[in-house]
Amino acid sequence: MTTLSHFTLPGDSVMMQKDFLFGVATASFQIEGDAEHRQPCIWDTFCDTPGKIADGSNGQVACDHVKLWRDDVDLIASLGVDAYRLSISWGRVLHPDGSVNQRGMDFYINLLDELGRRGINVFVTLYHWDLPQHLEDKGGWLNRDTAVAFANYAAIVANALGNRVYAYSTLNEPFCSAFLGYEAGIHAPGHKSRQQGRTAAHNLLLAHGMAMTEIRREAPEAKAGIVLNFSPAYPYTSSAGDANAARLAHEYHNTWYLMPLMEGRYPDIINQLEPHERPVVEPGDMDIISTPIDYLGINYYTRNVYRAGGPLGFEEVRIDNVPRTAMDWEICPQAFTDLLTGLAQEFNLPPIYITENGAAEDDAPFNGTVHDPMRLDYLQSHLLAVHQAIERGVDIKGYFAWSLMDNFEWAEGYRKRFGLVYVDYGTQQRILKSSAKAYQGMLAIRQEAS
Ligand code: NOJ
Repeated sequence: MTTLSHFTLPGDSVMMQKDFLFGVATASFQIEGDAEHRQPCIWDTFCDTPGKIADGSNGQVACDHVKLWRDDVDLIASLGVDAYRLSISWGRVLHPDGSVNQRGMDFYINLLDELGRRGINVFVTLYHWDLPQHLEDKGGWLNRDTAVAFANYAAIVANALGNRVYAYSTLNEPFCSAFLGYEAGIHAPGHKSRQQGRTAAHNLLLAHGMAMTEIRREAPEAKAGIVLNFSPAYPYTSSAGDANAARLAHEYHNTWYLMPLMEGRYPDIINQLEPHERPVVEPGDMDIISTPIDYLGINYYTRNVYRAGGPLGFEEVRIDNVPRTAMDWEICPQAFTDLLTGLAQEFNLPPIYITENGAAEDDAPFNGTVHDPMRLDYLQSHLLAVHQAIERGVDIKGYFAWSLMDNFEWAEGYRKRFGLVYVDYGTQQRILKSSAKAYQGMLAIRQEAS
């Protein structure tokens, strides 16, 4: 059994220096609850649709964070982290007519002020998937007007929160919003169409670019960027066909969201799509989308393996005899290092923050403690993977564990636990797991050394 009292990194690692930011992350819908004081969003609707959420649950209460936020700030501070990444609920801060809901905005202002008093740098995501339902009723991300609405929302939030925020992120994982939400149908709003998936992606990227300008104007001191997720694509065999399949999958699932930002174009696989499946790119769109960003947030959990086949030339293969998390995702820290070095070679990237990394484990309290040996191993090996990438020259400025605490894991409901802190949903009690203590231990050692 793993009995790790603290994570370790080489003593001379830049990660052990105080200007490398260590944090924990959450998102509004996954923790907040207090649904009666915000607009309904697409995830409320999805949760109300039978069969969509594995345990039939919803986000009405979640971790009750809107009520318990002061305790949660104590919890965050007790870990010794430098930074906390959270997201704003669009429908909590704006009424449907676009005017400010002051009660909702004040919630975030008070939260950020308290975090600031504790010396914790705040990373704010403006869109972590909870699109107000009234916008979905007008087409959601299939409607270009949603990008304009998002830019207005971004301006209002950046004006209200200003430089309380260390770094703004426009979107979290547009791959998930577009592909899982509009193409694969497993996330809200649950559509299943390639044409819709690609259209949603384009409008999300457009929303990002438009919002960048607003954030820069309203909060010029803060950093502004975006958070993308990557599941690096590996070939199943050493055949040329499988190598090509992995390349195509990388373009379709990964660089589709990054190349427009960095180079103002979609990857070549776009030419393989039927003309009607391609997004409508209006003149000027790519200039907006490729507005320079101050940093790139990267979320990494696992890799995927592909072989030749399928309608676009690649199909995913599930390989046997590899370690997996409770999400059934392969544990592969080497792929994390390779991803970071590979992206840095492929693109001219700005500084990187690892904005999410973590693992789901079926952990449970025993005599008042929660031991999570798999997560301990996962986090330790992935911290080293980040260190390796830095050693190889990749400019990485921080690392956030997903997640501060167990929360609503989207289509999986509450059964998949990603927290460093255990949440008892019956009592809302929070219990530090072994992994939280190991994170705390590492940060305390770094503190002493500085
Ligand atoms: C990425 C998402 O940003 C987050 O909301 C989710 O809980 C984790 N991955 C784990 O699936």
